[in-house]
Amino acid sequence: MKLSVVGAGNVGSQVALFGALKHIDEIILIDILGDMAKGKALDIQESMPIVDSHSTIIGGSDYGLTKGSDIVVITAGIARKPGMTRDNLINTNSNIMKSIIPEVCSESPNSIIIIVSNPLDAMVHLAYNLSKFPKNRVLGMAGVLDSARFRSFIAQELNVHPKLVKAMVLGGHGDSMVPVMSLCKVNDEPITKLLSMEKINQIIERVKSGGAEVVKLLKTGSAFFAPGASVIEMVESILHDQKKVMPCATMLEGEYGIGGVFAGVPVELGKNGVEKIIEIPLSDEELTAFKTSADHVKELTKNLNL
Ligand code: NAI
Ligand code: 2OP
Repeated sequence: MKLSVVGAGNVGSQVALFGALKHIDEIILIDILGDMAKGKALDIQESMPIVDSHSTIIGGSDYGLTKGSDIVVITAGIARKPGMTRDNLINTNSNIMKSIIPEVCSESPNSIIIIVSNPLDAMVHLAYNLSKFPKNRVLGMAGVLDSARFRSFIAQELNVHPKLVKAMVLGGHGDSMVPVMSLCKVNDEPITKLLSMEKINQIIERVKSGGAEVVKLLKTGSAFFAPGASVIEMVESILHDQKKVMPCATMLEGEYGIGGVFAGVPVELGKNGVEKIIEIPLSDEELTAFKTSADHVKELTKNLNL
């Protein structure tokens, strides 16, 4: 199993660390700052005896190191600063994406590409067009993170183990994302039986601004621990062909009445990447919010002239 991570910054290095904790055989960290990537890889490698993992972690700037990767995760790009939206990153990060994707495709033509760089859904669309890979092999990480935030806030409010909380956030990874209340359950009990609507609405608003809440506290940079863990949840399902269902950004072609745009929906993740898009029943209100979110992504993606 070979995982490559392009961008050895905050998120990339956490992806490498979480991946090593999950015993992925070989992990490559690539960055334009080659020595920094080498240094982080070495530092993670040196923690392996303590955490009882046999992973090999190698860093550098040479894409030759990534040759034959099963999965390539792209986290290269700038992160937002307080007051910025993810959409503000589009020009810089699309240029970075254009320099990376051809290298990834030539070294690992059979890989599955997971995009993390923001604005997420537009960057996945760009990577899909540049790679010319089939749509099942280019996807984006956001829904797992946003859903983990949703689950965490509910678990904290009810003082229960977060594993008992099921919740999903769909749509684009931006201010218009859609935390789906009708899917939210704790120990199979609907959330509406456990919390007041006022509290649920407060939590939903907090989920939508979950990324900004961290940015505001950090003052510089954005979240990276939960994003790193979220990426590895997806990577594991693919590498071990677990076929877990989780929300990921994928190309929609008529599902949910939407086409020609990448947005977060529940998908089955297995050895072929996105193996199935799951169409879950949504309330009229949720479906309308989902369509509004997808329309926002469509508008933003137009800036890329794809
Ligand atoms: P960071 O600034 O810590 O790391 C970015 C890294 O990319 C830097 O080390 C930089 O040297 C490298 N880089 C820049 N240009 C490159 C190139 N052409 N080739 C290779 N490496 C290059 O940023 P962080 O916090 O790791 O975030 C990375 C991206 O991920 C941002 O766009 C951020 O908004 C996004 N993000 C998305 C999330 C999601 O849920 N989809 C969650 C968290 C972050
Ligand atoms: C987040 O939601 C930065 O998009 C990233 O934390």
